[in-house]
Amino acid sequence: MGSQKRELRLDRPIVFSETPPFPHNMLMELANICNHECVFCGYKNMKRKKMMCDKHFMFDIMKQAYENGTREVGFYMIGEPFICNDLAEYVSCAKGLGYEYIYLTTNGALATVERCKELISAGISSIKFSVNASTRESYIAVHGRDDFYIVRENIFNLKKYLENNKINVPLFISFVKNELNKHDVEKLEREFDSVVDKIYVFPCANQGGTMKRKLLDQGIVKEDEMFPGSVAPCAMCFNRLHITCEGYLNACCADSDGYLSAIDLHQTSLIDAWNSEIMIELRRKHLRNELSGLLCQNCINNTEEIFSPLNKDLCLAFSNEKLS
Ligand SMILES: C[S@@+](CC[C@H](N)C(=O)[O-])C[C@H]1O[C@@H](n2cnc3c(N)ncnc32)[C@H](O)[C@@H]1O
Ligand code: SF4
Ligand code: SF4
Repeated sequence: MGSQKRELRLDRPIVFSETPPFPHNMLMELANICNHECVFCGYKNMKRKKMMCDKHFMFDIMKQAYENGTREVGFYMIGEPFICNDLAEYVSCAKGLGYEYIYLTTNGALATVERCKELISAGISSIKFSVNASTRESYIAVHGRDDFYIVRENIFNLKKYLENNKINVPLFISFVKNELNKHDVEKLEREFDSVVDKIYVFPCANQGGTMKRKLLDQGIVKEDEMFPGSVAPCAMCFNRLHITCEGYLNACCADSDGYLSAIDLHQTSLIDAWNSEIMIELRRKHLRNELSGLLCQNCINNTEEIFSPLNKDLCLAFSNEKLS
């Protein structure tokens, strides 16, 4: 692909204020259901009820967001976007509303060329594949499913389709490096370097602190390589909207259990939720790095202190027990 290689949009403008501008970017969780069980992902231990979102409710959220200035939408949080059979309809709705960048990340097992064609016709801007291994054996160990060859075929078929039809949709791969797959990077790069625009190797993070103990106990990450999920103040609370499949505004994209769900958007408009006292107070705590009692404290400091949900009414997983 030579000089035409494109990159993921990772740096977005950010204003660290208690009342930042309405975000340019939004993530939507269409289903908190996944067909894989990656060893490093909070999905495996998720306590939330598994569900699909309400399509017309999410369409309305997209409209509200667009009217307030959001121009980029990503269809993923916890779970697998291709589980949602109406995925192309969401892309089409976003395109119709005027969104300028519509994207997703997928494990790729259900991303057949037929389904990708639907997304492309609907207006998807880029697709990232999460491929966390380069052999069948390590793929099974990391993803918990024997899908390496299926995923590889899906990516190769999509690439061929894009090339044959001169379609300009960037493809990316991300790889979360850990003790089970650390020797796979070179082979992954050899195999996929000419197929995707860029391969990103990310460190394994603690997923809001909730994965730390499991990652260490299972030898997936070494103590001195355990990455915090973020730093204070964490950008997520300041420049991005996260809409859970229950229809809540959440402060974070990695909060599998809803500990940072702030506002029920069935009862409050998106703009009022963004400017709500609960979000302002959360940002204030981030700006002062006074996060004690919140999930964010464990995420940033790699600790395992007792914490409470941001909004107890929206967190069914809430229990006062120390994290185990
Ligand atoms: C939670 S997944 C949801 C979308 C889809 N199922 C996928 O895997 O692409 C979103 C991204 O989070 C990443 N992720 C999950 N757990 C992680 C961890 N502990 N550290 C770093 N990235 C992680 C995945 O690799 C994936 O790229
Ligand atoms: S990283 Fe993605 S594919 Fe893997 S378990 Fe989590 S949600 Fe599923
Ligand atoms: S848990 Fe808090 S600090 Fe960590 S990534 Fe999420 S919002 Fe940021």
